[in-house]
Amino acid sequence: MKKIRSAILIHGGAGSYKGFSDEVLSIRLEHLSKAVMEGYNVISKGALDAVEAAVRYMESCGFFNAGLGSVLTINGLVEMDAGIMDGRDLRVGATALLRRVKNPVSLARKIMENTDHIFIAGEWAEKLAEFYGLELLDNIVSEEKLKRFKEMYENWIKGEGSRMSKLREMILQGRVIFESHDTVGAVAIDSEGNVASAVSTGGYWLKFPGRIGDVPLVGCGFYADNDAGASAATGTGEYIARLNLSRFCCDLMRIGFQAQDACRLTIKRITDKFGPDTAGIIAVDKNGGLGYDFNTRGMGRALMYEGLDKPIVAIFREEKN
Ligand code: GLY
Repeated sequence: MKKIRSAILIHGGAGSYKGFSDEVLSIRLEHLSKAVMEGYNVISKGALDAVEAAVRYMESCGFFNAGLGSVLTINGLVEMDAGIMDGRDLRVGATALLRRVKNPVSLARKIMENTDHIFIAGEWAEKLAEFYGLELLDNIVSEEKLKRFKEMYENWIKGEGSRMSKLREMILQGRVIFESHDTVGAVAIDSEGNVASAVSTGGYWLKFPGRIGDVPLVGCGFYADNDAGASAATGTGEYIARLNLSRFCCDLMRIGFQAQDACRLTIKRITDKFGPDTAGIIAVDKNGGLGYDFNTRGMGRALMYEGLDKPIVAIFREEKN
């Protein structure tokens, strides 16, 4: 069997990165670097372990919109979604509407490996997390986050921001500054050519309670198939889901496009349909090629592969990697 160079590529969200100070950007780069190494350090156990470990780090560090860093719904709650896929046999695990699970990606993996189902959401998903001994927290909504929520809500309800105008109308009868789409994701290939994808998110600020985006939907937020490659999306879930964006990217790789070309064509497709500032994507193809693209101002990302001394990390387009 042909030996493949093992590799992992992660993202920490596509978005405007508006208002991020240099200090915050450098902390973010540092966390991306650590997250990709968490995954790379276990890649000898397989691509699935690598993507789970990288996403777990980003959920646990509190600096991304996933796990501890999750943003809040319009009624001030956290509702987290996650998904994972194993390219060897197309097994999938997904979960949504979690309020207390520290690492939703690990619950998604338990659902994939230990239940008869592919997607379990809400109260019973949390019971399952408890049953499997996963860490549950009562304080995911921090004081700092509540303060930020109040500011954003005040601005939005006064009319700032163009999105969710239907919700604003509903509330005013009966705004949102989407500064960053910050979902986290990882794709990897191990030395045996097995690929995997994992994603996790808090959704976006001021989302409607009960809203589920692309992240736990197979083919939308994530996809992995050893015959094609693996991909993970970030951006506005309502657009990503309608194009089955991750599956679209994998299908391009299935018919022979390298990961970088597949990502470029995938972002072209979503931009043509729904405009700029909508999405980013990362991918690895079945030969181990890596790719990414985004139509937002930035997308935090990090990659590591056999032979590199240290990870390559970047946020904006002008940075070369
Ligand atoms: N892509 C994250 C979300 O829309 O929920």
